[in-house]
Amino acid sequence: MLTNLTPQPADKILQLMQAYREDPRTDKVDLGVGVYRNAEGVTPVMRAIKAAEKKLWEVESTKAYTGLAGDPAYAAALRKLILGDTVDAGRIAAVATPGGTGAIRQAFELIRMASPEATVWLSAPTWPNHPSILKYLGMRMAEYSYFDDATRDVDFGAMMDSLGGVRKGDVVLLHGCCHNPTGANLTLEQWQAVADHLKAVGAIPMIDIAYQGFGDGLEADAAGTRLIAKQLPEVLIAASCSKNFGIYRERTGILMAIAPETGAQPLTQGTLAYLNRQNFSFPPDHGARLVTMILEDDALRADWMAELEEVRNGMLALRQQLADELRQRSNSDRFDFIANHRGMFSRLGATPEQVETMRKENGIYMVGDSRINIAGLNSETVPLLAQAIVDAGV
Ligand code: LMR
Repeated sequence: MLTNLTPQPADKILQLMQAYREDPRTDKVDLGVGVYRNAEGVTPVMRAIKAAEKKLWEVESTKAYTGLAGDPAYAAALRKLILGDTVDAGRIAAVATPGGTGAIRQAFELIRMASPEATVWLSAPTWPNHPSILKYLGMRMAEYSYFDDATRDVDFGAMMDSLGGVRKGDVVLLHGCCHNPTGANLTLEQWQAVADHLKAVGAIPMIDIAYQGFGDGLEADAAGTRLIAKQLPEVLIAASCSKNFGIYRERTGILMAIAPETGAQPLTQGTLAYLNRQNFSFPPDHGARLVTMILEDDALRADWMAELEEVRNGMLALRQQLADELRQRSNSDRFDFIANHRGMFSRLGATPEQVETMRKENGIYMVGDSRINIAGLNSETVPLLAQAIVDAGV
């Protein structure tokens, strides 16, 4: 049986991690996978997580299973964090999932069950695992225009033109904030135009929000998601706590499905619990419990928010430093977009050959589409990257 297997396509981001590890150079710079690192190159355990873990060790009296959907208190805490009070809680079905990817996978399976003919629309470009999972599940997908390679900003006219092809019942996947891989995001006016269009067509928005708090702040980063959730009758939201709580390996995510006001919530909740049972049974609890403890405790929550702000401001400062260095070294303002992008990533607009040159000549590792992880930099490596970008002729 096993000899019948054929090799599967390698994930470009994970492949790059491997290549970086194997590079013997000591001055190499890893701008690949989306993991936050501080100026020392460390991905720290956040203070509030440490404190919650200590407390949990003291008070936790059992490791018996939670419910299939996870702890309802976790769902309530994340609902408030992401949606505030924009949607009546009685309309929201929610399940804890193994990370944001687990939520995306469950959302796609839910779509396939409810609407097997639906096309899922993805931004061009998007996180490579979106099309990869859809392909694996044998689902229909299409792309909508998003990024303008010349301005390195959203080409909103082209986006709306291509969303003209969306049909009733199709699903349109939007990045809630901090677009991965480009770093270019919709304004609130643009969110509103997208919401109006999807509502008019009868399409279902699905929002992938994995970087809340990394862009303009916890509230601002959720504004587009809230706008959609308030106005559309059905919405899917796949969220991750990997980045904003720094608990990557704990696999802590959630899928929320906002059901129409016609009482479809219980059926949706039951289906989501069923999907959890089929795919992995009970969801992981440790990360979800820490997140719940932090969000429910005023002191822990305040400390978490303060540290998240430090992380966010650190990335903004690196963006500004890189844009300034590039302005000086290229004698032009063509890299100013780096300071305007938000989140962990920016797409530089370099060719694959230029990306390869920077890897070979300078030991700088970025994804082949020229996505850089801003958090992989520090104030010493920014000038090296800036010089490498200019030398490569980007
Ligand atoms: C990324 O885009 O680098 C992250 O979301 C990590 C991953 O799993 O790809």
